[in-house]
Amino acid sequence: MTPIKVMSVFGTRPEAIKMAPLVKQLQSMPEFQSICCLTGQHREMLDSVMEIFRLKADYDLHIMQARQTLSSITSRTLLGMEEVIAQAKPDLILVHGDTSTTFAGALAAFYHRIPVGHVEAGLRTWDKYSPYPEEMNRTLTGDIAELHFCPTANNRANLEREGIRGEMFLTGNTVIDAMKTTVRPDYVFQTPELNALDFRARRVITLTCHRRENYGEPMQAIMEAVRELVERHPEIEIVYPVHLSPVVRECVFGILRDVPRVHLIDPIDVEEMHNLMARSYFVMTDSGGLQEEAPALGKPVLVLRRETERPEAVASGTVALAGVEKANILRLAEELLTNEETYRRMAKAVNPYGDGHASERIADAILWYFFQRTTRPADFRPGTYARHPLRRRIRTQSDQPLRTITRACKI
Ligand code: UD1
Ligand code: UDP
Repeated sequence: MTPIKVMSVFGTRPEAIKMAPLVKQLQSMPEFQSICCLTGQHREMLDSVMEIFRLKADYDLHIMQARQTLSSITSRTLLGMEEVIAQAKPDLILVHGDTSTTFAGALAAFYHRIPVGHVEAGLRTWDKYSPYPEEMNRTLTGDIAELHFCPTANNRANLEREGIRGEMFLTGNTVIDAMKTTVRPDYVFQTPELNALDFRARRVITLTCHRRENYGEPMQAIMEAVRELVERHPEIEIVYPVHLSPVVRECVFGILRDVPRVHLIDPIDVEEMHNLMARSYFVMTDSGGLQEEAPALGKPVLVLRRETERPEAVASGTVALAGVEKANILRLAEELLTNEETYRRMAKAVNPYGDGHASERIADAILWYFFQRTTRPADFRPGTYARHPLRRRIRTQSDQPLRTITRACKI
């Protein structure tokens, strides 16, 4: 039988991290011909992921420009995809999440009447400007897609509420599949600043912040909260791999450069990042991905945003919405540093996002859609997380530093 040609289109760091396990899954199955098309919306941060997961692009649109606008990302992707689709003639195009690559990739597929599968479908805040432009990107992508791969039951319910067309599948999030390969108790950091940190003696906080809706005043307030936090707490070290966006870097370096115990480093590769989080005391972030990864490692998360499209971990207690006001961020961070009971409660919460088998479910769903399976894949059930290999592995490994930290963090 002729293999189904599935073209995965992605362009930013988080899309690549979350699509990598799925691309690998498709590559491993004879029923598929997997084609990988990068838009290149990101460059260094994307290439680093491709290298770590040993993925090769079949096409690369190289669209990134310094300080690119949303219109330039969208129009350059749309135009670039014309030729790629004409050449590759895919049976299905997969896009991921909510970036401008996601939306433009889906729109390009639609213009060529090619069915779209949306991975990480159904996340919503119901506020079209927050996150901006992601809420609209994913809503429009949902309208275009035929197949919706929802990480959680809540995501599926969001789509049902919208009366969305197409087939919905409850799969779990592929990021948990990716973490199965990256987190290692015996991991040795490549980044000198990370190697120099004593994770046992110090309380290390991982920080990231990059969202467009936080540009300007909110980001300044966040950075000022961080500066005050570190000045008040001599026991903490803050590690911040700063996004390559010049807008972000101007703000962050303007406020935190040369502040003692704040380590501003360049973006690190995903293995470094996951292992950094696994050894951190807690995480402060406006990132979507980190909100899913940190709970999988039993790490409390303070979300530096006004809302979140990932309410599941808030409900289970691992994640707290800190907002973007300096006083509130300080209050919550200090609560985690000084109140053991609060810390223990947040660090022990369960993870609702995946069991490490999302990619297999998605591949099976595609086969079902193309009439090569008679049954749909079974839904992901979050209860199975209690036995998730990541947690067991971290608990039982003999690696001394991680075991000690793990115990200290009461994972
Ligand atoms: C994009 C996504 C956002 C996602 C984020 C993940 C959109 C509109 N936004 O935002 O949803 O959360 O990626 O990180 O799709 N740059 C580099 N090298 C890189 C990457 C970026 O120099 O490898 C610089 C460039 O100057 C670029 C700027 O960062 O113009 C911003 O990149 P862009 O993709 O437009 O926005 P992000 O904030 O990264
Ligand atoms: N990440 C990384 N290196 C870094 C910072 C983040 O590999 O220096 C990873 C992180 O673990 C997560 C993903 O990048 O998997 C999140 O990307 P980002 O925060 O840029 O985007 P978002 O998830 O907010 O869309």
